[in-house]
Amino acid sequence: MTDCYAVFGQPISHSKSPRIHGFFAAQTGQDLSYTAQEVAPEHFTARVGDFFAAGGLGLNCTVPLKELAFDYAQVKTPRAERAKAVNTLKRLPDGAVLGDNTDGGGLVTDLLDNHHLTLAGQRILLLGAGGASRGILAPLLEQCPHSLRIANRTAAKAEQLAAEFADLGAVSGGGFADLAGQCFDLILNATSASLSGQLPPLPAGLLSPGGVCYDLAYGNQPTAFVRWGQAQGAAHSLDGLGMLIEQAAEAFRLWRGIHPDSAPLIALFDHERT
Ligand code: ATR
Repeated sequence: MTDCYAVFGQPISHSKSPRIHGFFAAQTGQDLSYTAQEVAPEHFTARVGDFFAAGGLGLNCTVPLKELAFDYAQVKTPRAERAKAVNTLKRLPDGAVLGDNTDGGGLVTDLLDNHHLTLAGQRILLLGAGGASRGILAPLLEQCPHSLRIANRTAAKAEQLAAEFADLGAVSGGGFADLAGQCFDLILNATSASLSGQLPPLPAGLLSPGGVCYDLAYGNQPTAFVRWGQAQGAAHSLDGLGMLIEQAAEAFRLWRGIHPDSAPLIALFDHERT
């Protein structure tokens, strides 16, 4: 029987994950199937149970299911425990289901390995204090930045999130207005605003000379935040295509024990949107 994997989400029809995992499987000579399945939150538990009962080996869970996947997993990696969200489930040999979160690892790999950036000693600004931010904080702080500031429309949420991760490094939180007069080497956008073409209200002069902007969202056209970064004179203003592919590569490794080569796929997807 073919080894079965899938991504669950809602909506899911535009997911690139089946193509990404199909590419990795072909590249590494693995015989597996990977499908995208529309799953509403109220059906999540039953659908996951059915999937694994039918012999499925692993699942990706995306919006809005990552917290439910966290609750479902019987065993969790430390970074999933920290994120309180799971994007990858794996059935273990004893039948238990392991939950991991590869989002932050995917982001860090994209920044360090693909874009040859350094995070150690850098002043990082993270925009947004929702699920996307929560998922990447621990892997970012592990890289020992000089400081990490979380800014959010609802300032109290940023303060709360910073307090939750304070044991991992110099992290603080506040509103956008508090940013006036501050300067950062790397600005990451993890708000959902960019997807609808909107930008958080950011004061001028936030980006240091030679600084980098990175939008966790991606699209066929530059996102509003990528364009903002370009207008600020960023040395690089990047979107989340590389993170998407690297988080998938980490999930593939968890499932199959082989780390695929993401470079040809990033080049292919990049080429398709030019
Ligand atoms: P996700 O899982 O994508 O992080 P979320 O948990 O709903 O989704 O969080 C969305 C984030 O985008 C939040 O930080 C939200 O700010 P609030 O906490 O103040 O709601 C932020 N956000 C959404 N729309 C925004 C906008 N138009 N301007 C600024 N921030 C916005």
